[in-house]
Amino acid sequence: FPQFELADWEAVLRHGFPVDHRMFNAMAGHLDPRARVLAVDLPGLGGSREVLPEVATLDESARLVLAAINGRVRGPLIVAGLSMGGYVAQAIAARAPGQLAGLILLDTRMTADQPGAAKNRLEVASRARAEGSSEVVAPMAQATLAPDTRANRPDVVEFMESLIADQTGAGVAWSQVAMSVRPDRADVIAHLDCELLVIGGEADEISPVDVMTELARTAQRAVVEVVPDAGHMTPVEQPAAVAKLINAFLTRVSP
Ligand code: MLT
Repeated sequence: FPQFELADWEAVLRHGFPVDHRMFNAMAGHLDPRARVLAVDLPGLGGSREVLPEVATLDESARLVLAAINGRVRGPLIVAGLSMGGYVAQAIAARAPGQLAGLILLDTRMTADQPGAAKNRLEVASRARAEGSSEVVAPMAQATLAPDTRANRPDVVEFMESLIADQTGAGVAWSQVAMSVRPDRADVIAHLDCELLVIGGEADEISPVDVMTELARTAQRAVVEVVPDAGHMTPVEQPAAVAKLINAFLTRVSP
């Protein structure tokens, strides 16, 4: 996986769909310089566009991420993921329970798709494959942002549009199929043996605050932080505020 290293600590960031690690660019400069942060492009997206494993599951993504960071992580590992990246982070927690010092879930869910949502994903996947582009998910540039961001921050809207336009039809299709078959992770969250930080945008319409609160309630040791003036893309919409929450968490869970 292409990765970029920001500094010196051990945290791994996983982006959402249908974008790539660049969604964390604005936040990068606000992260604690003592942290060594890897931002990973998940299969099919960004610099990993050619990585399209035969089996499309988020477990496969988790396996590949763990293999990619193996040997690069010296200390306790903190894993963070937003939305689809959060599903992958939960798959990592399921695969490598003893390895995590902390888990950060941003704007995501622990539940599997309802049958209607899974069916819709497969339709989107077929269209993306047939059209050979990410056009079918272009409306997500708007849908993932808070109404206020949509209306008043054209630079943020354009940034999201350009990230989405950069993705391939094959990558969009792979991700949609993988998300459609993801299992319920309530059991993993309930048995987490590390600290959990849950971050949600106040105006997130895709994984609303009540979904995030329920997720946190399922864990034994969790803190929920609601970010004002943000939708589903909290690190894009409020990079400094989200970095502040992450920095405080890194300090708290690091030995
Ligand atoms: C994301 O931001 O990763 C997606 O909204 C996740 C999803 O479609 O469930």
